[in-house]
Amino acid sequence: MILVTTPTGDIGRRVLSHLRAADRAVRVIARDASKLPPDPQIDVVEGSMADAATIARALPGVTRVFWLPPGDPTLPSAEAAYVGVSQAFCDGLRGSQVTHVVGVSALGRGWSRPAGHITATLAVDDMIAATGVHYRALACASLMDNIARQAAPIRDLGRFFQPTPADLKLPHVAKADVARVAAGLLMDMRWTGVEALPLLGPEDLSFNEMATILSEVLGREIVASELPMEHFRQMMRDFGTSDGMAQAYVEMLTAKNEGMDHLVTPPSRQDTPTTFRTWCETELRPLISG
Ligand SMILES: NC(=O)c1ccc[n+]([C@@H]2O[C@H](COP(=O)([O-])OP(=O)(O)OC[C@H]3O[C@@H](n4cnc5c(N)ncnc54)[C@H](OP(=O)(O)O)[C@@H]3O)[C@@H](O)[C@H]2O)c1
Repeated sequence: MILVTTPTGDIGRRVLSHLRAADRAVRVIARDASKLPPDPQIDVVEGSMADAATIARALPGVTRVFWLPPGDPTLPSAEAAYVGVSQAFCDGLRGSQVTHVVGVSALGRGWSRPAGHITATLAVDDMIAATGVHYRALACASLMDNIARQAAPIRDLGRFFQPTPADLKLPHVAKADVARVAAGLLMDMRWTGVEALPLLGPEDLSFNEMATILSEVLGREIVASELPMEHFRQMMRDFGTSDGMAQAYVEMLTAKNEGMDHLVTPPSRQDTPTTFRTWCETELRPLISG
């Protein structure tokens, strides 16, 4: 039995779909079962993944787990949103039948300064590894899907905004690729030990280059605008992000601007082939055109 967390989220629902397409026995933890696809073969444990009683109901009979700490922006800190949410799970792993865990993590191992969400995410990787399971941390670059949150300004203003120099080239990976790699690992138990698997997407791109691709796909000029970091922090707070999580965003994006995502060079980027152009054509354009 494979346990899938966040089965109603963007990555988790794709992982679930790959596993069910391969007819795997799956249990999910979901806060609201009515959001799940109608599939009688999915065993549902309703509750919060942060809750020890929910974890105790979810783990019996499970040998593999897809673990994605969602990073709730309303929690007081990145520590609470990642480490806190994963504590009961890590406690439950000890003494369970789980042998293999695949977790959604991030690039940044080896960065020496505070990096907000990344620092907390890497602490979760260490907690899971310390339980003794075989673990693959999917060390994701920034998700290209983040741009979808700006569908409204792209449509209405022809602009998107980021607190990053628009000519800085960074790796960006598609959620679809992350989910496919995760599902592949969950269905192939030949791997052992603890490793981080960098998922960087097919190429590094600057936000200016992304704007050019967006302009070509949408058939109108789209511009990438750099926001001052303090303006970005205020914007996050205006959207309901807690002060601690806004600080974590600032730390993370500052670290990315300073080179954190270039600490690793994977031997190959073939695992994550979705280009930004393909993502724009298949995912963003339908969203923009409604
Ligand atoms: N953004 C980036 O550039 C980046 C880079 C690297 C890694 N990541 C990681 O990628 C992840 C985002 O994944 P995503 O886009 O798939 O997320 P998403 O679409 O925002 O989905 C979040 C999911 O988490 C569920 N959830 C939230 N709190 C829960 C709780 N307490 N108990 C059970 N379920 C809960 C939600 O369920 P409901 O349906 O009940 O709301 C939903 O299914 C984050 O963890 C982040 O750390 C992001």
